[in-house]
Parts: sequence; structure tokens; C-alpha cells
Amino acid sequence: MQQDQKTVYLETMGCQMNVLDSELVLGQLRALGYNPIEDMARADVVLINTCSVREHAEQKVLSRLGALKKPKQAKRDMVIGVIGCMAERDPDGIFSKMPHVDLVCGPGELNKVPALIEDIQAGRHRAIALAQSLSRKSTPLQRALEYDSVEALDLAREPAPGENVLQSYIRVQRGCDKFCTFCVVPFTRGPERSRPASHIIDEAKMLADRGAKEITLLGQTVNSYVSQDDAREVRFAELLERVSAVPGIERVRFVTNYPGDFTDDILAVMRDIPQVCEYLHIPAQSGSDAVLKRMRRQYSAAQYVELIDRAREYVPGIAIASDFIVGFCGETEADHEATLKLIERCRFKNIFVFKYSPRPGTVAHKREADDVAEDVKRWRNMELLSLQEGIASSITQRLIGSTVEVLVEGFSKAALKAQEAEQTRGEEVGWRRSDQLVGRTRTDQIVVFPGPPDSIGSFAAVRITAATALTLHGTLVKTCSAEEEVRTVPSIARSLPVLGGV
Ligand code: SAH
Ligand code: F3S
Repeated sequence: MQQDQKTVYLETMGCQMNVLDSELVLGQLRALGYNPIEDMARADVVLINTCSVREHAEQKVLSRLGALKKPKQAKRDMVIGVIGCMAERDPDGIFSKMPHVDLVCGPGELNKVPALIEDIQAGRHRAIALAQSLSRKSTPLQRALEYDSVEALDLAREPAPGENVLQSYIRVQRGCDKFCTFCVVPFTRGPERSRPASHIIDEAKMLADRGAKEITLLGQTVNSYVSQDDAREVRFAELLERVSAVPGIERVRFVTNYPGDFTDDILAVMRDIPQVCEYLHIPAQSGSDAVLKRMRRQYSAAQYVELIDRAREYVPGIAIASDFIVGFCGETEADHEATLKLIERCRFKNIFVFKYSPRPGTVAHKREADDVAEDVKRWRNMELLSLQEGIASSITQRLIGSTVEVLVEGFSKAALKAQEAEQTRGEEVGWRRSDQLVGRTRTDQIVVFPGPPDSIGSFAAVRITAATALTLHGTLVKTCSAEEEVRTVPSIARSLPVLGGV
């Protein structure tokens, strides 16, 4: 490394959208000559990309920032920046609690990060970029100008040479208009705006050219995507078809779905287009109509269950994932029972459970009491997870004996640990046939199996021999070379037994 090369340390917390935002910010800084490093204390620029969805996530940010006080004292020209949702939500709080922070930048302004860093380096005391001025009441021109400027961030995407793009995210939508009463996202990420389909397709082509095989389309309510293409409306089902048609893209996924807007044309595309994976992440949040109403989710538990049934009719073997909040304001034992019943009925592949955390600015925080005791929240959380564990186990147990298509992502954690131990003992790292690889099925099940390292980045057929609730173990039946893959993968996928689901 050259002596004068500038260095950046970037840490990401929160959702997949943040992971993508961080990648794009890092890309901008790399283009300006910054070198990403892992040692925070040595970096010229330290950025923390933050999450505000729960209070706990913000506390984690504050403790991270607290740990930066000493390194900053030792290296006075270090620039410390807080970017993402917490920056947008509480810039004053950050500066008052953490006076050594130099810059804050909201998620809608990330294209300005390089300029903000320069301002600080040029001697400015503090640099701030927030979209707070952008409200749903902004004029169409204001919105368009703001939109063009952030769109530039995605348009400038330029993966570093050698960067692993096998599985890549593409943003299709920014913000959210739903205003669920518990959720801070519409305040931190602003109004819902869909990106032009042509930009998304160009990005998919660029990534496919560099080796991407799996694309995950990202949006807060991804299924409500709608854009104008030559004065014609492009809806989400069509976007899925068009991304699937990009040569080289073998798998397409999308998160997160909003049950209220979910239309059957998307299910038809999932059934008919081989590239679109049989996997749906569609948060229910609760199984109680009274709670759903107070959350302003715009659907009933019965409507949610009907939608899941319909998804299974259209797409046999579909794996469904969901989110739940326990202990939302006023949640009774009967409400909680209703959620257990819904989980029992829907047989999810996996669920994410969160204890309700009041967020300043939201309707629930303003108007309702956070009246479910912490230990009750904890208990309900555990109950949901233990019910789900049994369901997940029964789903994975049924896969034993079947052969599944796996996109091989890399070495398993255990294999990496063993390799590290070998290295620290000074032994030569030899790749043995027993090296454990890890990958995922089309239904997002994790599969661990011994296989040749050169199959990393390709598809493999794996026979499942054992399973826990969260992991399948198997033996390699066959790997596919890159050339073979293009011809055989869709047919392997079709001929395999139904995965996941029921
Ligand atoms: N549509 C978004 C949702 C963002 S928040 C997405 O892309 O995932 C992710 C999940 O966090 C939500 O589905 C919800 O279950 C949970 N969550 C949101 N606000 C919360 C709060 N105030 N307390 C606890 N959990 C919350
Ligand atoms: Fe949040 Fe509801 Fe939107 S959970 S991201 S307000 S759909």
C-alpha cells in the first residue's frame, strides 16, 4: 500500500438496504482513492451505517461511537461519520451525545458523503446532509430533483475489480408510504419512489457481466413497485420477468413484500419463470385483527392466510418467511394466541420475531402506551420461536433423501475456522475433499456439504442426508461447470422434488 493512500472503515448495521447503501458509498470512496481497511482505529475516515428500527439498534450505534472517542483523540484528523437511518432521525441527539462525530448523512443523501468528508477535511466544524426538507408535501419538481440526485448513487455503481458479485442486491424502490403505526422507516427513508425499470435492467446486466448469478430486488414494499416506461406503466410482475430475462441471471429473489398490495400476477410469474425463486418474505406482524388494525396494516389475519394459501396453490413447494412483533401496545394474551394460531396455520420456513420498541415520531409512540411488560414480551418472543422451530424442523426433515439445487457460496463457517487454525499453527492450508462448503437452495434453505472448492460460485446438486431446523446437510451428487449450468440449471431446478414449503 502506498504511504499516502487514504483509508476508510465502514461498518454496516441493519437491513439489506443498508448493506447495499454501504457498498455504493464504499464504491464512491474507492473511486476517490480510498482504501477500505478493517482496523477502525487506523482509518482516516470511519463511517457507521445505522439502523433506527428498534431502540436497541440505536444503542448499538452509540456504543460503537463511544468506542471511537479514544482513537479520535490519538488521530485528530480522523473523520467520523454517522450515515443512514439514525442520522436522519436524530442528528441533534448524535451530536450532543457524541461530540466527536463530524458528519451525519441520511439515507436519501448518501451521494453527498464524499463532499461532506471533503468539507470536514477542509476545516469545517460539522457537515450535515438530511432529507428532512423532503416531505410528502414537496412539490413534484422538488421530489424529482431530490430523486435525480440520489438516483445518481445507484447509477454510479461500479463493483471493485475482483469483488464477489455472485449474489447481488439491486434497489428497485426507495422509501415507504404505508406508515404502519409502529414503524420509523417512512420517516427515515422518505416517501415511496420506484426506480425506472431501464436503470434496474442495466444494473442487472452490468452485474451479470461481472459474474452475478443471483439477484435480490430490494424495496420496503417491493411488490408495490410501479414505474413509467415510455408513458407505459411497469408493475412488479413485469419487472421480475425482465430481470429474469437478463442473460447469466439464474436466480431472482425479492424482499420485502407487503401483504396488502400483493397481486396474483406476481404469483403467476413465480410459477412460470424458472429464474424466479419459490421464496416469499411477506411479514404478517400479528395474527390478531385488533392488533393489525392498531398497527394500520390494512389487512386482516384471514386475508393474510388466504394469500398464503393462494401462493401455495400457484407455486407448489414455495417457502414463506414472515416477521412478527410481540408485545405491541395493548396486545392481550388472546391476541398473542391468535398469532400462535396463524403461525401454526401458515407453516413458515422461518420467521423473524421482534419485541415491540416504541419509536419517536411514529403514531404508536404518540398515541399509545407501551403497556406490555418486558418479561411478557420476552416470553411471547420465545413462545413464537419455539413453535416455529418445530415447524421448521418438520419442513427440513421431509427434505432428507431428496436432491436439491444449491448455489455454492463458499466454505462453511466450520471449514473457515479449521483453515484459520491451520494457518495460525503455521501449517500449509491444503484443500481437502472433506472441506465443508455452504450454499442455498432456491427456497433459501442453507445446505452444508463436503465438496471441491472450485465449485464455489457454481450450482451443485446435493442429496440431503440430515437436517436441523435451520441447516440441511448432504453429499454432492454433481457440480455443474459454468457452461453446463446455462443449459442445465433450469432443467435441474424443474426436475427436483418440491422444496421447503408445507
Ligand atoms: N418493509 C420493511 C420493514 C422494515 S422493518 C423491510 O424491508 O423489511 C423490518 C421489521 O422490523 C418489520 O417487518 C417489523 O417486524 C420490525 N419492526 C419495525 N418497527 C418495529 C418496532 N418499532 N419495534 C419492533 N419491531 C419493529
Ligand atoms: Fe415499515 Fe410498514 Fe413500510 S413496516 S417499512 S411502514 S410497510
